[in-house]
Amino acid sequence: MNETITLRPATMRDADMLLDWRNDPETRKASYNTSEVTKNDHIAWLTKTLDNSNRRLFVAEEDGAPIGTVRADLSEGVWELSWTMAPYARGRGVAKRMVALLVQQITEPIRAEVKAGNVASARIAEHAGMKFNQKIEGVLHYSRDALNEQEA
Ligand SMILES: CC(C)(COP(=O)(O)OP(=O)(O)OC[C@H]1O[C@@H](n2cnc3c(N)ncnc32)[C@H](O)[C@@H]1OP(=O)(O)O)[C@@H](O)C(=O)NCCC(=O)NCCS
Repeated sequence: MNETITLRPATMRDADMLLDWRNDPETRKASYNTSEVTKNDHIAWLTKTLDNSNRRLFVAEEDGAPIGTVRADLSEGVWELSWTMAPYARGRGVAKRMVALLVQQITEPIRAEVKAGNVASARIAEHAGMKFNQKIEGVLHYSRDALNEQEA
């Protein structure tokens, strides 16, 4: 049976957990910046992120336990999404449900960039209703148009 997944805004109390997930080797491989992030840089990044009105950072929980994170950045009316699962929560279909949950709540257009070869994330984008548009320099570009009122 599927456990209940919920999204809540991240807080500074999530800093250590988010840094662990960010520095996990698979996460680094999937990121544009593949180097390890220091604690100081991470705290500065999280402080700025929580203060940025064009950015939303969520922690996904499964029955109250943190299992992943999704970020949404607003630029020129389009939300760009990116996501990471906790290493211990991967491979169970929960990332698909986590990203789809956020996508359902957004009525504005959405986009996501996935490195070619990240098959799981390509599946996640498609499952959430995004369409593949083009591949540019090894990066797959996905998007979903704005929802009209009936669809929202
Ligand atoms: C990518 C990531 C989010 C996937 O999380 P996950 O919990 O394993 O994903 P799910 O279990 O929800 O699976 C999603 C889909 O990918 C498929 N999948 C999972 N791992 C896979 C793999 N290694 N190779 C191929 N397909 C895979 C699943 O079968 C599923 O597809 P399906 O429903 O069509 O069968 C997770 O591995 C992660 O956090 N990686 C590091 C960070 C990252 O890549 N972020 C995304 C940047 S765009």
